[in-house]
Amino acid sequence: QFFFVNKSLNPNYLHSNSTSHTWPFSAIAELIDNAYDPDVCAKQLWIDKTQIKGVDCLTFMDNGAGMDYDAMYKLLSFGFSDKRSLRGHAAVGMYGNGFKSGSMRLGKDVIVFSKRRNSMSVGMLSQTYLKETKASNIIVPIVTYNRVGSQNILFQ
Ligand SMILES: Nc1ncnc2c1ncn2[C@@H]1O[C@H](COP(=O)(O)OP(=O)(O)O)[C@@H](O)[C@H]1O
Ligand SMILES: [Mg+2]
Repeated sequence: QFFFVNKSLNPNYLHSNSTSHTWPFSAIAELIDNAYDPDVCAKQLWIDKTQIKGVDCLTFMDNGAGMDYDAMYKLLSFGFSDKRSLRGHAAVGMYGNGFKSGSMRLGKDVIVFSKRRNSMSVGMLSQTYLKETKASNIIVPIVTYNRVGSQNILFQ
């Protein structure tokens, strides 16, 4: 299990950063753009609404490139984006902020499950968790499993 800290970023930043979306549809658009962008290039995207323990929850699932540990780390950090156009397919994202602002506009907490080749990762960005633990920096847990033969080995 691995936690990383966004040094000197106060948890309140998650909310203030999300207010750039004046309505929820631009937040949803960030998540759609990410699936469509050339580094992910999903063919399909499923958006659904469900309830987890009585709490409304939106799910976004795509069949694009997926993420390994490093990609998940970048997804949940601020300011990482090395997107480029690919064969004339221009990228929408470029500031490395869309996922954070979009997801935190739609909900207080997000859990990301992803799979790429032999690794599976789970990451969490949670305003509820940061508030309840009275965290003074944004702390992000990520767990990655690597598949070795038929077993899943905890990697980090
Ligand atoms: N659905 C996804 N599947 C795989 N990787 C993703 C997905 N969404 C985001 N990412 C990765 O996370 C990075 C950060 O996303 P984001 O915060 O929206 O910033 P940006 O789109 O500006 O790069 C992206 O550059 C991309 O590599
Ligand atoms: Mg983006």
